[in-house]
Amino acid sequence: MRQPIIAGNWKMNGSRESIKALLDGIKAGMGDVKSAEVAVCVPSIYIADVAEQLKGTDIGFGGQNVSTEEKGAFTGEISTSMLLDFGCKYVLVGHSERRSLYGEDDAVVAAKFAVARKAGLIPVLCIGETLEERENGTTEAVVARQLDAVIDVDGIDAIADCIIAYEPVWAIGTGKTATPQQAQDVHAFIRSKLADKSKDVADKVRIQYGGSMNAGNAAELLSQPDIDGGLIGGASLVAEDFLTICKAAG
Ligand code: 13P
Repeated sequence: MRQPIIAGNWKMNGSRESIKALLDGIKAGMGDVKSAEVAVCVPSIYIADVAEQLKGTDIGFGGQNVSTEEKGAFTGEISTSMLLDFGCKYVLVGHSERRSLYGEDDAVVAAKFAVARKAGLIPVLCIGETLEERENGTTEAVVARQLDAVIDVDGIDAIADCIIAYEPVWAIGTGKTATPQQAQDVHAFIRSKLADKSKDVADKVRIQYGGSMNAGNAAELLSQPDIDGGLIGGASLVAEDFLTICKAAG
């Protein structure tokens, strides 16, 4: 049985004040979250604040990006050891915004995945097709390629304890959600693709759905057999909505 995991991706949003209010709200409602693991991936400048505010709670936290380098002359970058220094458990890798806006290709994403995992962080590997790719029928080929890029570098066993987030690009921040069936179909494809290499890994790995998941549609998406949680953008910035999603996960 895979424990569901709901993670907020705050992206580049918030202030010290708004983040405190958001976390106070989430903490206050956590008693009603029964079985889901809960985490937030936050702008790096706020990680120290978030670490302090989440001390003694069951809410995990992580970064949204990481360097492949350990230290040195890499202006603006943040290393795995820096994330770990502040208690991060997770880091997003390969978010579609990083891929499309910052030129991270499959090779870069695979390298980031590998350094994060080796350092002891749990990478949340984001994969997903664009609208054009969906419309021309290449969704499966695209997610397979994105997955293979990581497996080729790090091996199939590296996937087991990590998290995969299927995020169709056309559903991110658009208010347009994949239907539960569309999402389930791709999740099942991802799992079957992993099972070709290792049934154990396929059974174990948690696959989140991301892309306009909100308080209203979460329960139905999360009820699909291969959807093990959500990676939540906009709705994770509103405590009540985020908690509703966490509760829907169990
Ligand atoms: P939205 O929930 O705002 O669509 O964002 C999803 C996402 O990109 C999470 O990583």
